[in-house]
Amino acid sequence: MKKIFYIETFGCQMNEYDSEKISGMLENLDYNRTKNINNANLIIYNTCLIRENAENKLYGKLGALKKLKMEKDDLILAVGGCIPQNEEIRNYILDKYPFIDIIFGTNTFYKLPEMINKHMNNSHEILVELEKNSSNLNENLPTVRKYEHKAFVNIMYGCNNFCSYCVVPHTRGRERSRNSKEILNEVENLASQGFKEITLLGQNVNSYGNDLDGDYRFTQLLEDIEKINEIERIRYVSSHPKDVGDEFIDFLGRSKKVCNHMHLPIQAGSSKVLKEMNRKYTKEDYIQIIKKLRNSVPNISISTDFIVGFPGESEEDFEETLSLCREVEFDAAFTFIYSVRPNTPAGKRIDQINDEVKHKRFNRLLETLYPIFYERNLAYKDKVVKVLVDKISKNKDEYLTGRSRSNRIVHFKGNSNLIGKIVNVRINKVKTWFLKGVLTEEEAYE
Ligand code: 5AD
Ligand code: SF4
Repeated sequence: MKKIFYIETFGCQMNEYDSEKISGMLENLDYNRTKNINNANLIIYNTCLIRENAENKLYGKLGALKKLKMEKDDLILAVGGCIPQNEEIRNYILDKYPFIDIIFGTNTFYKLPEMINKHMNNSHEILVELEKNSSNLNENLPTVRKYEHKAFVNIMYGCNNFCSYCVVPHTRGRERSRNSKEILNEVENLASQGFKEITLLGQNVNSYGNDLDGDYRFTQLLEDIEKINEIERIRYVSSHPKDVGDEFIDFLGRSKKVCNHMHLPIQAGSSKVLKEMNRKYTKEDYIQIIKKLRNSVPNISISTDFIVGFPGESEEDFEETLSLCREVEFDAAFTFIYSVRPNTPAGKRIDQINDEVKHKRFNRLLETLYPIFYERNLAYKDKVVKVLVDKISKNKDEYLTGRSRSNRIVHFKGNSNLIGKIVNVRINKVKTWFLKGVLTEEEAYE
């Protein structure tokens, strides 16, 4: 029998990265990947629980799969990732979609090959494997990388912060940092294979190492990665403002390879709401960090996350968010409407904001942010930027797409043999979401 798998990933880069490892393990078992779900005899959904709509998306997909599952005797259906970590929802899924064969969690995807094997021997039993705070840090698993020039490297798992709206500490467990030698080995290996850009991943990368003995922390890790010759760009996500210290900011100012972009989620602009979110910083603390970053790192671009309509958010609180946007001048942002999550303190509050108010505020936030993004991009008009070329542009074949150091999407005409290379592009057109330009030999501004 031909082994063909289809995998669909919901949610954050952490899940994307886990899916790259799942794919690597399956390819080692002689499975081939397909993009057409109808061709597969193993279907995997790597799921996300962060907001209700991510959850609903999965239910839609599962509902639609019932027919295919009935038609195809040998089809194996696996659901993994964050959703199964929640007991109540897991039981709901088991009850409502009894045709699922395999359920695994965020810490047990390494058991998938074993579970598939077990299923082949006895297909009547639903197999469930979950661990809350696994000490298995998935070292040495094969990984199928999406690109050949840039890669994610996970440096830690889990989160200790318990923001009052967030389900992640419940699904991914406590912070567990990987050993720095393992991380450096992985990056050196990637470098020797020709990878140029590394993105270090963690729920809160700036607290890397707090759970390990010794005093080796995130800044040292960045310094050591910077020493690896072939690596030209280093990125990292996400950072929690409470852990962004002066030593780190000073290093960013000195660093040649860490890109001038930081994703620093603020969530809300009112110190009252931030306190209720259990974020552990005030609006003033955040603004102070931004000032230091802008002083230390020329042209640093700052992106962020916002949650609109947190329980109890008043009109005045929300207006503070809008005025903070104007003050900080974000370069980009992910904006979310607050979503009640199981077992979270904010979810239990009785002062939930009604949907209409949430949506109106959400639109007002976008109306405030978009002109700021555009304004920030305008600074790049007629400038030459270095672009790491990712791929052929989605909409136009003769165009290529890449990222500038400040993480801006840049489109330009060019030959596909430039993919994976760093080229200079003179920007001649600026939009809210991207820059457009032409290849040039001129020296880059950034
Ligand atoms: N509702 C809406 N957005 C949320 N996020 C996390 N939990 C929720 C929730 N319950 C957002 C935060 C976080 C990002 C990854 O997702 O902005 O930074
Ligand atoms: Fe969730 Fe807060 Fe942890 Fe981010 S820092 S994963 S928002 S609990």
